[in-house]
Amino acid sequence: MQIYVIDDREELGRKAADVIEEGLAADTKAGRSPILGLATGSSPEPLYAELRKRHAAGKLDFSELEAFALDQYVGIDPDHPESYRNVLLREVVNNDATGLKAENMYTLNESATDLEAECARYDAEILGRGGVSIQILGIGSDGHIAFNEPYGSLRSHTHIGALTRQTREDNSRFFDNDIDKVPTHCMTQGLATIMSAKQILLIATGKKKGPAIAALAAGPVTSACPASVLQFHEKVTLLIDQPAAQKLPRDILMHL
Ligand code: F6R
Repeated sequence: MQIYVIDDREELGRKAADVIEEGLAADTKAGRSPILGLATGSSPEPLYAELRKRHAAGKLDFSELEAFALDQYVGIDPDHPESYRNVLLREVVNNDATGLKAENMYTLNESATDLEAECARYDAEILGRGGVSIQILGIGSDGHIAFNEPYGSLRSHTHIGALTRQTREDNSRFFDNDIDKVPTHCMTQGLATIMSAKQILLIATGKKKGPAIAALAAGPVTSACPASVLQFHEKVTLLIDQPAAQKLPRDILMHL
């Protein structure tokens, strides 16, 4: 696991964009079509801002790229601005943001009549391609990645899940600070699906993420912290700021 502590938001965005470009290039070099794994939430925002900047400057073009999103709320109106497809359209697609085309960005369909079949179909699409080239992740304050909440299977595939009260509280800022407006359920790539990515980039900032980052990088591998399963992945980059690094053991910090 490579850990970088970067406090400046723009610098963190530049480092994240470099890691993404290298991850995609590695698959191109290996003769495979690169596939990007997208995340939503606040954590990837500096990265997406930098990708848009590079595209506007003619230095990056995702027009040939395919991308898969991590998760989606269940029971959300497809036109709701916080539907994760709409979030990602705004961040990386609309107005030629990065060159990525809407038809090449795959998201779990929250309107499917059979949600379980939709999860199975989505999972098979990803695994059928041999996993994404590089997966962007954030982390929940309760240690979730995508919406894999604590105490689920460490080998799960794309599935329907319930959100913890903590996650709904954390995400209420996107829903008028009203927890009752936050959906109770989600569809999410499972941990086995995420682990099929060839490379992983996890971004976390802020003090609230400190305990989860310490559990991810230095705790036991346990379903109590789903992100700890990343210790079994051979190519993980953590991009965090000082407040998020605060709870890491001293001996890890000394090696950074
Ligand atoms: C979003 C996702 C979640 C978030 C996590 C952190 O697609 O899968 O795991 O990454 O909840 O959210 P932020 O970045 O908003 O703190």
